[in-house]
Order: sequence, then C-alpha cells, then structure tokens
Amino acid sequence: MAPDPISPDTARRSTWDDGCTVWHLVDRSDLSVVQESLAAGSATRTHAHDRSREYFHVLSGRAVVAVGPRTTEVTAGSGIEIPPRVRHQIRNETDEELLLLVVSAPKVTSGRHAHRARPLRRDYGGVVVGSYLRPTRPGDLDTVVEIESAQDTGQWLGEGGREWHEQVLQAPDKEHWVLVDRLDRVVAFGILAALDRPDEVELRRMVVAPEGRGQGLGRLLLRQLLEHAAGRPHVRRVWLDVGADNARARSLYRAFGFVEREAPPGAILLENGLYMEWCPDGR
Ligand SMILES: CC(C)(COP(=O)(O)OP(=O)(O)OC[C@H]1O[C@@H](n2cnc3c(N)ncnc32)[C@H](O)[C@@H]1OP(=O)(O)O)[C@@H](O)C(=O)NCCC(=O)NCCS
Repeated sequence: MAPDPISPDTARRSTWDDGCTVWHLVDRSDLSVVQESLAAGSATRTHAHDRSREYFHVLSGRAVVAVGPRTTEVTAGSGIEIPPRVRHQIRNETDEELLLLVVSAPKVTSGRHAHRARPLRRDYGGVVVGSYLRPTRPGDLDTVVEIESAQDTGQWLGEGGREWHEQVLQAPDKEHWVLVDRLDRVVAFGILAALDRPDEVELRRMVVAPEGRGQGLGRLLLRQLLEHAAGRPHVRRVWLDVGADNARARSLYRAFGFVEREAPPGAILLENGLYMEWCPDGR
C-alpha cells in the first residue's frame, strides 16, 4: 500500500519564540526534511554542522544566505547546498515570511538551526505573537523580582521585592498577572488592585523585561490588563499613577486613552506621580 502523503497539515510542528515555525516532514536519523517559516526580520545563528550536508530550497520569499565568507541572495524556486563544516546563516531581511524546504543528511542533531534570540523589529510581532496573560504563580516570582530589579526599571516603581509580591499574590483585593511567551517564559507582569471597590480598578504596576521593550509587549500587556479590569461588572474607571518624568509609560497610557486628572482626595501617589484615568467605552 502506498504511504500517506506528508504535508505541513499532518507533520509534527515546532514553533520558536522568534516567530519561526518548523514542520518535520521526514524525521529520520539518516535524513531530515523540514519546511521552515522564518518570520520577517528574523535569522538563524551562524553555525556549521560536523557531518550533515544541507540543502535549503526557497519556496516563497527571499533568503540572504551567508556561506563561509560569501553572501548570496536566494529567491523562490532556487536553493543552495551547504557542505558539512561550512559556517552558514539564513536571514530573512524582507517584510514577508520566508518559506524554505530544508533537507539535511544525516539529520542535524546539534540544536537544529539555532535561531538567534535577537529582538525582532517592532512591526514584525516577534515575541508578541503567541504571548498571553495568565495568573502569576509563586514559581514565577523569581523572574518577576529579577525583571523589577533590572536597570532602568526600579526608579519608575514604588515598593517591591519578593515579600511584597508574595503579599500581592495572597491579597483578595489584588490580581497579579504575568505575560508569558509560547514557551511559558515570563516576559512582563502587571498588577491590578483596589478590586474590593465596586466601580474602579487601580492598575498598580506594569513592567516589561528590559530586553523585551520596544516590541509592543507593553501595549499587549496593557490591553489585556484593561480587558480584565473592564470585564468586571460595574467598573467605571481604571486609574494609575505614573512618574511625571516616565515619558515612555505616560505615552503608552495616553495612547490607550488614559487622561491625566487631578487625583481624588485620599489617593496615594508616587512622589512625583501623576494621576491618570481611563473609562471603559460607554460607561
Ligand atoms: C513602560 C513599559 C511598560 C512599556 O513597555 P514596552 O514593551 O517597551 O512598550 P511597547 O513596545 O508596547 O510600546 C508601547 C508604547 O509605549 C511608548 N514607548 C515605548 N518606548 C518608548 C520610548 N523609548 N520613548 C517614548 N515612548 C515609548 C510609545 O507610546 C509606544 O507606542 P508606539 O510604539 O505606538 O510609539 C516599559 O518600558 C517598562 O517596563 N518600563 C519600566 C517600568 C515602568 O516604567 N512601568 C510603568 C510604571 S507606571
């Protein structure tokens, strides 16, 4: 009987946090055939294989392939052969997806094509694609505290530290959220507070890991936190306070429709804090 046809629809699939996807069409030790999608702006690491010979065939898009000292452009319908022990790198320098068929014999064992963990340019989605918000677990707190104590971070925030976060996790009037990528790595976190009040929510804190900034994660985190806040039945306003000199954060909040207002009596703000408020549509 003839074997079943193989296609990306039926093949095992791996996805990588830099927006690349691999479909394992033939996955044997003596031969590997994968279809690989490299997101716009992404690249593999420069690497070589001890024993494997590889052939990259461009199905769609345009690849820039560095082979040893030479760099060649390979367009759809053409391919390039890479002998063993020759250093090479595949780059997608376009704004479109690059789709490749990659044949290796024997199968590459050393960490496939080792995609480079460099931030993608902001328009390309990068780590933003596939990241989602989930409740923080105690096991996330090491990373949360690490993010918070990174450079260019703590000065924009009020109190923090592990104990403070542990208390937030326990507090019935607060919600602690992490934004995780597809591999469940914490890339940002946010805290909603004042949830015991009937009609308001305080956005107590939001922080993106420094290496993830400038790629749209802050926007994604804020959108999802606001969705949670606005999903509560009687919420009429979400408020926060932000350092007057925190230009990045202020510009992000303004872009979402937060407006600066005089703080209501009793609100406790950062030393140079500005009070900002956002109202869910139609309320
Ligand atoms: C503020 C913060 C959460 C933004 O996260 P981010 O992932 O870098 O932001 P994004 O890439 O999603 O950008 C969203 C918006 O923020 C603003 N922004 C981001 N970086 C900026 C910069 N360097 N300068 C000015 N505005 C900037 C812009 O309005 C941007 O929108 P745009 O891309 O349409 O111009 C992040 O910088 C951070 O964690 N800072 C330290 C902690 C902090 O200040 N938290 C807020 C406390 S109130």
